[in-house]
Order: sequence, then structure tokens, then C-alpha cells
Amino acid sequence: MTDLGPVTWPPAPIRTERLVLREPEARDRAAVIELFASPEVGSFVGGPRPRAEIERAMPGAPGRRPGRFVVDLDGAMIGEVTLTRDTERLRPAAAGKVDLGYLFLPRAWGHGYAAEACAAVLGWFAGALPGEPVVLHTQTANVRSMRLAAKLGFTEVERFHAWDAEQWLGIRLPGTRNAGQAVEPGPGGM
Ligand SMILES: CC(C)(COP(=O)(O)OP(=O)(O)OC[C@H]1O[C@@H](n2cnc3c(N)ncnc32)[C@H](O)[C@@H]1OP(=O)(O)O)[C@@H](O)C(=O)NCCC(=O)NCCS
Repeated sequence: MTDLGPVTWPPAPIRTERLVLREPEARDRAAVIELFASPEVGSFVGGPRPRAEIERAMPGAPGRRPGRFVVDLDGAMIGEVTLTRDTERLRPAAAGKVDLGYLFLPRAWGHGYAAEACAAVLGWFAGALPGEPVVLHTQTANVRSMRLAAKLGFTEVERFHAWDAEQWLGIRLPGTRNAGQAVEPGPGGM
């Protein structure tokens, strides 16, 4: 039993048309540091962290945990997609549910990689724990993230104010299709 629930972890790497979703490895360390230190990436998620602080906190390989997928394009990490069981959120509608998160390096934005990776992760999750909804938090000012959430089939539960910004809580019910997709992908990829 993992924090996510009774899922087998890690799954075999998930292959999509252009990407591989897999556990973090030591060779991803530089890209993970770049991701968390990037001012653009941090704009709507609490701001970038000082590079030295990230390096100190991650002396070796990036941490592995159930639900943390590195997104690999041609052998190099371009971002990460996470599923985290929500145990701390203050919003009752999200409590206890699995929350989707996504962070991509700015040079990988605008190619549909985040949508492709998230759809595959949601497909894996639907196969691993059928019948469970997934929630998503994002700032409403995060236009790219709001567009991605809609594309993935999340619908609004509520907007609320926290961390000095308007926040959006969305939910994706079991059986939801991604925009433009005929059927929910099965476990193991699209
Ligand atoms: C949120 C985030 C992941 C969105 O990334 P993104 O690249 O815009 O998202 P998508 O993968 O859906 O790509 C969509 C874009 O790719 C374009 N695109 C190009 N080729 C494409 C293809 N083959 N297939 C699909 N879309 C394609 C789309 O037209 C769209 O472009 P547009 O935004 O100019 O309209 C990214 O901005 C990010 O990492 N932000 C920082 C972290 C963050 O804020 N996370 C949210 C908190 S959970």
C-alpha cells in the first residue's frame, strides 16, 4: 500500500507518442534543479527557490516516490508530472483525493508535451485505481495551466483566495475523456 493507494509502484515506463514517463534517475538531477530554480516555472507556484538551497536539499539523485513521474524526451528530462494523495489541503472537496501537478522547463512549453504526459499519467491512474476522481489546484492567472486543465477534462469545483492569489480547484471524474480523445487510454500508455 502506497500513499497513493494500492497501486503497484513503480509501473513499467509509460511510453506515449513522443515521451517516456518514468521514475527519476541520478542523470535527471541538473534538470530538476533547473526546474525548481526557474523564475518562469515558479511564477505561479510560490516562486523559484535559490539554486544553492535546492542543491543542498538534493545531494544525490532526485527523490523517488509513488506518483512522481519524470517526463523524458529523447533521453532528457523536460518536466515532471505528479500524483499526490491530498492529506493537508484545506478545501473539503479535495481532501483525501489524488491531486495532479505538472512542472515543465520553459523550453518545452508550447509543444503539447504537458498535455501528452498528463493524459498518459491520468490513463495509468484510471487503470491502477479505477473509479477514483483526480483533483487539480492552480492559480486562475496561470493561463497555460488553466488551458491544460480544461484540455485534460477537469471542471471547476470552486475558486478561492489563498497565498495572495485567486486559486482554482478542478476535478476530473472517472471516465472523463481528454479533449479530442476518443477513449480513455488504458494502463501502460496511450
Ligand atoms: C502549465 C504548463 C505545464 C503548460 O505547458 P504547455 O506547454 O503550455 O501545455 P501543453 O502541453 O498543453 O501545450 C499547449 C501548447 O502546445 C501547442 N502545441 C504545439 N504542438 C502541439 C502538439 N503536437 N500537440 C498539442 N499541442 C501542441 C499548443 O498549441 C499550445 O500552445 P499555446 O499555449 O501557445 O496555445 C507549463 O506552462 C508549466 O510548466 N508552467 C510552470 C509550472 C506550473 O505553473 N504548473 C501549474 C501548477 S500545477
